[in-house]
Amino acid sequence: MDHFQLRDGVLHAEDVPLPRIADEVGTPVYVYSRATLTRHARVFRDALGELDNPHIAFAVKSNPNLAVLKVLANEGYGADVVSGGELTRALKAGMKPEDIVFSGVGKTHAELLQGLEAGIGQFNIESEEEGYELAAIAERHGKRAACALRVNPDVDARTHEKISTGKRENKFGVPLDRAAEIYARLAEEDGLDMRGVAVHIGSQLGDLEPLETAFGKLGALIAELRAQGCTVTHADLGGGLGVPYKAGETLPAPTEYGAMVARVTKDWDVRLMFEPGRVIAGNAGVLLTRVIRSKRSGNGPPFMVVDAAMNDLARPAMYGAWHDFAAVAPSGDRMTAHIVGPICETGDTFAMDRECDALVAGDLAVFRTAGAYGATMASSYNSRGFVAEVLVDGDKYAVVADRIAASAIMDAERVPEWLA
Ligand code: LLP
Repeated sequence: MDHFQLRDGVLHAEDVPLPRIADEVGTPVYVYSRATLTRHARVFRDALGELDNPHIAFAVKSNPNLAVLKVLANEGYGADVVSGGELTRALKAGMKPEDIVFSGVGKTHAELLQGLEAGIGQFNIESEEEGYELAAIAERHGKRAACALRVNPDVDARTHEKISTGKRENKFGVPLDRAAEIYARLAEEDGLDMRGVAVHIGSQLGDLEPLETAFGKLGALIAELRAQGCTVTHADLGGGLGVPYKAGETLPAPTEYGAMVARVTKDWDVRLMFEPGRVIAGNAGVLLTRVIRSKRSGNGPPFMVVDAAMNDLARPAMYGAWHDFAAVAPSGDRMTAHIVGPICETGDTFAMDRECDALVAGDLAVFRTAGAYGATMASSYNSRGFVAEVLVDGDKYAVVADRIAASAIMDAERVPEWLA
């Protein structure tokens, strides 16, 4: 459930009518609902209620806006970060260092050091090589890094290939069949406190079975590690739970996920850790846009050109993703249109042959379920600048990220004198 609902025929974010935001902030603009973020954070936590003190780290990559992170920090969430930049954000938003997990295959020397100096709770190491590098840095600085080893369980998550991470051929984690020996070797390092294992097989999962298979394999690994004398006190089960993008679509509920996790992990005797992103933020945001014009195209449906584009919301262009598209003030009439942005490539298409609310030039509309992997994947392609972000809370709202104009980006560019 989200807090973007029609009231008196006008779409509101909580108690704020979206036309007000469009008039005052301009379009395109991402609009987030604090009540929805909070609700999702609690639903996810409650779904894990059977577990003993689960650790929940919001996947910052899904929505790194400082205000969004602050909402989640207030809910007691930690952060799953994948870069020095995300780590800086999580700390700035008030997430406790000990509640921060650092994932990612390519942490640089500087990023490993940054994590150590910040005193983060756990590094999820993705290779033996990374483990030795971290151990050396930690020893040199008189520290000990708490670590989990991320394993690649070779499980097909049955999601889009670009967001599938747990197959043997993907770059993530160490192969399951080598994990026990690698863990044992890394556990010998003075600079490392090898305390657990981690797995994350992909995102937007519509089916719990691949997760259950992966967790089963992780459970067997924990038993194997203990049998060979290693200590395992933590298991990080990653993120991945999908959300409905289409009205009427059903996905596994957090409660079903929680029940499956409780069943599969009941004998593990570890602290379980989670890294949800999309399930918290996805339906807590919309991308508000205005129709520039409708353009006839032969005998086919018209091209409805909106002022948002693939640089603002990349998911349809990148993954062929579906985002529901709806009028802010629907008349009740319907139409079929190709919904496109202004960018000069055919990939800048949000939907072809979409049956949607009838709209004309100047009307406002939203792409729904844009709170995760939306603004954060924006670019300034076609010199369009970066889109603004707004957070609504009841009857008030704040601009939580300014629009960055193309001219401001240009200000960071130089033409060297020798070209003059
Ligand atoms: N943990 C790790 C190690 C991850 O790589 C990810 C997502 C998550 C947690 C959070 O997964 P979630 O709960 O959000 O599914 N840009 C793509 C999604 C990429 C996901 C990358 N990793 C999209 O727009 O669909």
